[in-house]
Amino acid sequence: MVRNLRMLSGTVLLIFVTAHLLNMAFGLLSLEAVETARRFLTVPWSLLPLSLLLMAAMLVHGFLGLFSLYKRNTLRMSGYDRVQLISGLLIIPLLASHIVGIAAAKNLFGFDPTYRIILTYFWLDAPLEGLRQVFVVVIAWIHGCIGMFSWMRLKIWWHRVSWFIYPLVVAVPVLALLGFVEAGKEVIAERTLAITQQMDAGTGDAPQLSAAEEVAQQEANAAAAEVNREKLAFSKRIMWSIIFIFAFLLALTLLARAIRLRKAPDAITFIRYMKGPEINMHVGKSLLEISRLHDLPHANLCRGRGRCGTCRVRVIEASPALPAAGEIEQQTLDRLDCGPGIRLACQVSPLAGTLAIERIVPPDITPADLYSPNQSDGVALTQWSAEVSDA
Ligand code: FES
Repeated sequence: MVRNLRMLSGTVLLIFVTAHLLNMAFGLLSLEAVETARRFLTVPWSLLPLSLLLMAAMLVHGFLGLFSLYKRNTLRMSGYDRVQLISGLLIIPLLASHIVGIAAAKNLFGFDPTYRIILTYFWLDAPLEGLRQVFVVVIAWIHGCIGMFSWMRLKIWWHRVSWFIYPLVVAVPVLALLGFVEAGKEVIAERTLAITQQMDAGTGDAPQLSAAEEVAQQEANAAAAEVNREKLAFSKRIMWSIIFIFAFLLALTLLARAIRLRKAPDAITFIRYMKGPEINMHVGKSLLEISRLHDLPHANLCRGRGRCGTCRVRVIEASPALPAAGEIEQQTLDRLDCGPGIRLACQVSPLAGTLAIERIVPPDITPADLYSPNQSDGVALTQWSAEVSDA
């Protein structure tokens, strides 16, 4: 359930980011092309059903990310996981001003934030904001691609589509950035032209206003500026509230995690790895985490998410018996048709006592080893595992 929710919410968010990147790539043609594509790629996300879906996906994905951080027994992790964690934590603070800005433009200031307006703002009025936007798009893309890659590369059809997907992973953001630059050149040229025309018009005969009219116009301008200042201050307060709430939830997660780890029983488990070392370890960590902490090679293609089954071990001896498999572990064990005594190292945490295990799958296994053509999900791995077990 949790696994599916994370995948579903992540997929929605990745589609959203991809749509925006593709929209921006149209800048390579012209600013007009960006605006036309916007009607099909970006505007639909502001319609009620899609914006509700997007909001739900953001909340679910964000909370699940914090929950998985809370559940981590150690912050020692693979490079992929580190990049995914850091990029995930950066997205909301970096994106908050853009989300609030777009919502404020429509709901407070009453105008449609077209790409012409947004790009003018990014390229001419607030270049640092533009730079931040580029940064957050790249970060969100990397985060989404790592998540998708972790899931897809374990699928039997991955080798059939990977040749097509790898170039896309690079091409989409590169084309979007090039489109951003080209469309930016256009808005700069438009602004330059407008200034020149204004200056030309300024040299002509300007309509003369009476003193009373001038005062009235100044008062109207001042009143409008005051209203805009208040609206701007309001949208900034919302933006900072989002950032503070996120920072608060993150701090709460880390605090709860620290309390959980501190409360862990101060007991020791003795683990004997067949054809490996013998280890004394405080209880509370999974077998895979224990292997990682001791730099022991241990296959883990899905990086501890309980999907791939490559981390599985044969339990030679366990005193006391290991806790029963949870839902995620049991599903994967059933899918791989594993017999009794086989457990997933990423899902099981040894209790105080003694344990002897054997790592079944070689640590250097690759996704390509999992399947051969015409075999369905899991079958090849089971057969391959049986071969390894018999050897
Ligand atoms: S690492 Fe994939 S199931 Fe344990």
